[in-house]
Amino acid sequence: MVDSPLVDAWHAARAEERRSLQIPGHKNRYAADTTDSSVFAADLLGPLIRDDLALQGGVDDNALSHRFVEQAEALWAAAVGADYARFLVGGSSQGNISALSTVAEPGRPVAVDRTSHRSTQAALVISGARPVWVYPTIHPEFHLPVGLPADSVAEVPADATALFVTSPSYVGTITDVTAVAARAHARGLVLVVDQAWGAHLDFLPGRGALACGADLAVTSVHKALLGYTQTAVVAMRDERVARAHLDRCVDLTATTSPSVTLLASIDATRAALVEDEGVALARTAELVDGMRRRLARVRGLVVLDEATAGCPMDPFKVTLVLPGTGVSGLDLAAALWEDGHGVETADRDTLVLTMTLADDADTAEHVSETIAAMVEARRTEPRPPTPGAVWRVEPEVVVTPREAFFARRRRLPLREAIGEVSAEQFCPYPPGVPLLAPGERVTVEAVDAIEAAGRVGRVAYSSDPTLATIEVVDAI
Ligand SMILES: Cc1ncc(COP(=O)(O)O)c(C=O)c1O
Repeated sequence: MVDSPLVDAWHAARAEERRSLQIPGHKNRYAADTTDSSVFAADLLGPLIRDDLALQGGVDDNALSHRFVEQAEALWAAAVGADYARFLVGGSSQGNISALSTVAEPGRPVAVDRTSHRSTQAALVISGARPVWVYPTIHPEFHLPVGLPADSVAEVPADATALFVTSPSYVGTITDVTAVAARAHARGLVLVVDQAWGAHLDFLPGRGALACGADLAVTSVHKALLGYTQTAVVAMRDERVARAHLDRCVDLTATTSPSVTLLASIDATRAALVEDEGVALARTAELVDGMRRRLARVRGLVVLDEATAGCPMDPFKVTLVLPGTGVSGLDLAAALWEDGHGVETADRDTLVLTMTLADDADTAEHVSETIAAMVEARRTEPRPPTPGAVWRVEPEVVVTPREAFFARRRRLPLREAIGEVSAEQFCPYPPGVPLLAPGERVTVEAVDAIEAAGRVGRVAYSSDPTLATIEVVDAI
């Protein structure tokens, strides 16, 4: 039987009927099977927080004498071939902020893949490092990122501290981390991989970022695996990173009151995967293979796999390229939503589905047949693809993200701001990659892309939700 210390501690605490004199304020009064209607707001709150157990004064005493979290983190680290790991309840966003802050230094360059998630920008604000952007190869036909070329390491300035890469990408394409790690280490760079979408890769021999040579890796346990929403892990190897510094950077952003219900779901996920020895992972990968084969038979539809993408693919992602069918991914996503299937992301040309260990053969078959039929019903003339702007942003960094973030600002109509320096982020969500970020020059291309993105979806994190105006740097 595989150990799961945090899960065991959670169950033991859940079974106790304590009348605590400390937080959490709800005091687990909603935990009885039949909600006690005499407790304030039981009808509203009971089902929502029935299973919420705190660490301090809940699962453990105030001194955290049993060190349950540290035990569980050590078991995770051992399972994924890391030397050290920290559990997070702030998602891979917190993981990216912690990991990049660990390797960045004020005023020094750090090389970052510009298709990275918006959370990397927060680490740049915290650290004051100067981003030097590197870019993945863009597929010539599908205009999607297909991995960071190892050669791009040569462009990183000699005084840079680290290289930050995102793999798998949102569309499931995977960078050759082994090649990038070899080049990065030869140049004295620490390699950080945002593997938010690839937590399952750590449990497939030789496929996880750390196994391929990364020094730090961030994974969302709630995305490809089975953890509670918000759960993530940052894991590291000792050779080039100091545990104490990672700890400092995690603790900089961590709550002092984590929910053990969230943390124990990370422990449970790891224990289940170790016990299962890869059977369920292989089954999901087979389901995905089957979906890809079925959908590849739809005329004009391109299904990303190693052959079509020309790079390794996330075994849990189904990514469809639609222009050859004439169908819009946005229309298809809306129809699938009506049918009860929210998709991971869609734009005019692509549709991305995330499959996990929670999916079964019936779902995989139903979804494949439904999509095939929906495409046939909407088929029109093939059209040329429209390159997605988020994967091709090549900004001019005028001042550091930190300088722009803390600068005095003024507001301008968006188009009148061309030539100025942005003080804020414009971020189509999904995929959460900024079209424009603090410190970057506002260009015609950026404004066109922001307006186009605003017409079809949500552009997040700018101060004016109508996108009519922008805050620019006034004075530093
Ligand atoms: C590549 C990438 N990294 C990090 C994150 C942040 O993950 P989380 O939602 O777990 O904070 C996301 C979110 O979608 C992402 O796409």
